[in-house]
Amino acid sequence: MSSLTTTHVPKGLEGVVATTSSICYIDGERGVLAYRGIDIHDLADHSTFEETCYLLWFGRLPRRAELRDLHERLAEERKLDHSIINMLRLAPKHALPMDVLRTAISTCAFYDPEFSQNGHDANVHKAIRLTSQIAMIVAAYDRIRKGKEVVEPDRNLTHAANFLLMLTGKMPTKTAERALDIALILHADHELNASTFAARVTAATLSDMHSAITSAVGTLKGPLHGGANEAVFRILEAIDKDGADPVDYIKGMLAQKKKVPGFGHRVYHTEDPRATHLRKMSHDLGQSSGEPKWFDSSNKIEQFIKADKKLNANVDFYSASTYHTLGIDVDLFTPIFAVSRISGWTAHVIEQLDDNRLIRPRADYVGPAYPAKYVPIDQR
Ligand SMILES: CC(C)(COP(=O)(O)OP(=O)(O)OC[C@H]1O[C@@H](n2cnc3c(N)ncnc32)[C@H](O)[C@@H]1OP(=O)(O)O)[C@@H](O)C(=O)NCCC(=O)NCCS
Repeated sequence: MSSLTTTHVPKGLEGVVATTSSICYIDGERGVLAYRGIDIHDLADHSTFEETCYLLWFGRLPRRAELRDLHERLAEERKLDHSIINMLRLAPKHALPMDVLRTAISTCAFYDPEFSQNGHDANVHKAIRLTSQIAMIVAAYDRIRKGKEVVEPDRNLTHAANFLLMLTGKMPTKTAERALDIALILHADHELNASTFAARVTAATLSDMHSAITSAVGTLKGPLHGGANEAVFRILEAIDKDGADPVDYIKGMLAQKKKVPGFGHRVYHTEDPRATHLRKMSHDLGQSSGEPKWFDSSNKIEQFIKADKKLNANVDFYSASTYHTLGIDVDLFTPIFAVSRISGWTAHVIEQLDDNRLIRPRADYVGPAYPAKYVPIDQR
């Protein structure tokens, strides 16, 4: 008997090239990440989240009028059907924001005027709409679960500033707005990461954008993917609460063969270029807020893991202390990842559907030899 496939694929599809794409370039050996060829360091230093969205969706940097137009279109889409808000109000008290977000995105499909259209233009419209809606859902649900009023969006603000306003009810400082804006740029896309792959697989069946994004949100949630930033902060909190030494705490985790969230990467074998920016942001925000302890503790852990395990911090490690210092609750960290990654997910769905072929790989069969005998139930 031969297995149906002839090649043994690496576990977890490590190193397997599953598609062509012109969106995101990664060189894991040199620590390079670029969107449409533009280095992430240039984008983090000079771009905005809106401009990055344009780059991802349209394949090039916008001219001034094009960027203004996208700002306006994103601002116009800052609206949620009242049924979505009702759905958020009806979520059980124990529901976690990431789970509520997944269900809410799926619900958004019912109210999308182009729900059943899968053409390029309709998908771009849905990308813009979903980008505005995801941010509003995350902010609105956090207010609702805390018994606070949902804050009306301000259409004159940037995406980052409007999100912070809707979350906190207060106009953010320029420092907070720019810090979140950079975090959104850094998380916007990352080639065929697990959630993007899930989105592309769903889209490739000619399902629809909302189904693809719902798949992606469910995939991002896991602690091996976007959920790692929450797990990082839970460790920092536990260390702080017990007054423990960060290095001893991590040694204890490793002794129990636990993985330390925020370290290691399937693709990068050197520093994750996003971590470079987040480390600096975490440090600077810690200094300016007068609460440097989260950065200090993180930094001690990073030094130890680097020396002991030869593992580098990934995007999730310093985003934890960065978001906390911005006053964001820990269970919103992963939803905020989605607030950014929606730009990349939708760009990939558009690219997939522009030149679609069903994604349907094979499995290398390693089960009982064929033909196995069917034994009647009373003879087993
Ligand atoms: C990101 C991640 C899932 C990549 O996993 P992967 O490519 O499948 O790599 P593996 O899990 O096979 O790890 C390879 C080796 O490094 C070790 N390792 C990897 N990440 C580790 C971590 N965070 N802490 C401790 N050890 C780790 C593994 O134990 C394994 O060691 P072994 O060969 O002695 O068994 C993995 O590094 C991880 O679980 N990190 C923590 C979660 C996280 O931060 N996720 C967000 C990624 S952006």
